[in-house]
Amino acid sequence: MSGGGSGPYGTYSEYAAVVVGAGPAGVTCVGNLLERKVEPILWVDDAFNGGRVNRKYREVPSNTKAALFIDFATAVAPFRKIVSATPSRSRYDEPSDSDGVAVSGKPDKLQNLRELDPTKGCELSYAADMIVMLTEGLKRTPGIITQQGKVGEAVLDEATSKWTVCLDNPNQSETDISSVQTKRLILCTGSSPTDAPLPGNVSGLPSLDLDDALSPTLLSQKLSPLGPTTISVIGASHSAILVLRNLYNLASSSKPDLKIRWLTRHSLRYAEFMDGWILRDNTGLKGEVAVWAKANLEPEVFDQSPVSKYIDAISYEAGAEKEVFEQHLPGSDFVIQAIGYTRDPVPAMKTSSGKEITPYYDHEKGSFNYVRESECGSIGDLAKLPGVYGAGIAWPERVKDPHGNVEYAVGFFKFMKFVKKVSPEWN
Ligand SMILES: Cc1cc2nc3c(=O)[nH]c(=O)nc-3n(C[C@H](O)[C@H](O)[C@H](O)COP(=O)(O)OP(=O)(O)OC[C@H]3O[C@@H](n4cnc5c(N)ncnc54)[C@H](O)[C@@H]3O)c2cc1C
Ligand SMILES: NC(=O)c1ccc[n+]([C@@H]2O[C@H](COP(=O)([O-])OP(=O)(O)OC[C@H]3O[C@@H](n4cnc5c(N)ncnc54)[C@H](OP(=O)(O)O)[C@@H]3O)[C@@H](O)[C@H]2O)c1
Repeated sequence: MSGGGSGPYGTYSEYAAVVVGAGPAGVTCVGNLLERKVEPILWVDDAFNGGRVNRKYREVPSNTKAALFIDFATAVAPFRKIVSATPSRSRYDEPSDSDGVAVSGKPDKLQNLRELDPTKGCELSYAADMIVMLTEGLKRTPGIITQQGKVGEAVLDEATSKWTVCLDNPNQSETDISSVQTKRLILCTGSSPTDAPLPGNVSGLPSLDLDDALSPTLLSQKLSPLGPTTISVIGASHSAILVLRNLYNLASSSKPDLKIRWLTRHSLRYAEFMDGWILRDNTGLKGEVAVWAKANLEPEVFDQSPVSKYIDAISYEAGAEKEVFEQHLPGSDFVIQAIGYTRDPVPAMKTSSGKEITPYYDHEKGSFNYVRESECGSIGDLAKLPGVYGAGIAWPERVKDPHGNVEYAVGFFKFMKFVKKVSPEWN
């Protein structure tokens, strides 16, 4: 064992699991592993402050109902213990009054969420506070050791299927854990906005960070001091529509010299409630974003909507980006790409003989495969990568709806359902 780390029960040289990342997915995995008595767990994150939702998206309106955040926070026994003044069961089976106060009479730590309309969305600050509260509780739970830092590398001993996990710690204090052994390495490493080079001869246009544009406060701070400003927004899903709404709100209040060009390669898609299931559950617009888009951006209402005073809509077919961008982007003071999220880099993996491992995710099981070297040293078959699992926005479940449409299930409660289903096989 090297160094310390923190947790109420000391540190170990070998852990039942190392969980990388303390966003909603990391919290989900730690809760599920603990419930199944997989411990001790070493939990590593660079900040332990709720992941991206808390760091970047507190002002974003949720596209899921407030009830689902309560369901998340009460889904496993270790969470219920943290949430409740006294250990309780889930909101479905715990006798409670309509305000969510356990019959013991003591309000639990979900009162802020419980005060919301459970059938509606809420600001993500509520969900973020809940994740931070669970993180703090888990940090104090026996069986959990936390270490602030980054997992930089993991080395697999193929003979024993054990991993040596190496940490880069920011403070390099003597009590820091720098390397441990484990047979389970759980990646909950998250994703960041895709920032690809723009196609076409449009280099040199300054970009504006999607994360900043998703925050009305940061957007206003950035744009208000500027003179007349033109911003081009690329994309047409949740992020793009929220950015358009934030920009429009600014233009129609304090910054009337703001012009917005909206470049979209498809018509707006909405989630639709079907008979017991949701069409486009993961890709369609939902909640107040969907309401705003329907009222203002659909072709039949756009010209009459006040948004058309500030927004120019430019539609194009996928594949025509080069010509369209060369024609419409010049003259923009900023370009915002709202074109999805890309996985953050994962720890470098290699075998103890020094062969680099490229992990391929299995979206059904939450596990990974890799190309195993055969005994004579030639390239072997795709085999299960021992002990490595993943969850969260970077490693979501692939789901098929009753119409056969395939999507990736991204959302707090979706992570919870998936991890509950597959983690019993995470051996
Ligand atoms: C704008 C936006 C709005 C969303 N709104 C909703 C919503 O309303 N409802 C909903 O249910 N879901 C929502 N989601 C989807 C999803 O719940 C969030 O994306 C969530 O933050 C994903 O959690 P995560 O734990 O997978 O990743 P993250 O929150 O990104 O957390 C990953 C963590 O891992 C750490 N990490 C990464 N690599 C390492 C390493 N090598 N070593 C140590 N630590 C590492 C990171 O620092 C970070 O703390 C939204 C997503 C976005 C982008
Ligand atoms: N709470 C909220 O309201 C909220 C807000 C933002 C995000 N989110 C969540 O965060 C996740 C990511 O959402 P997202 O909206 O950022 O991304 P997304 O759902 O992955 O959608 C990406 C969009 O970008 C388009 N696109 C991709 N590549 C492009 C390119 N090269 N040029 C032009 N357009 C391109 C896609 O169009 P094609 O389909 O044509 O490829 C699609 O419309 C989702 O889970 C979402 O629910 C939630």
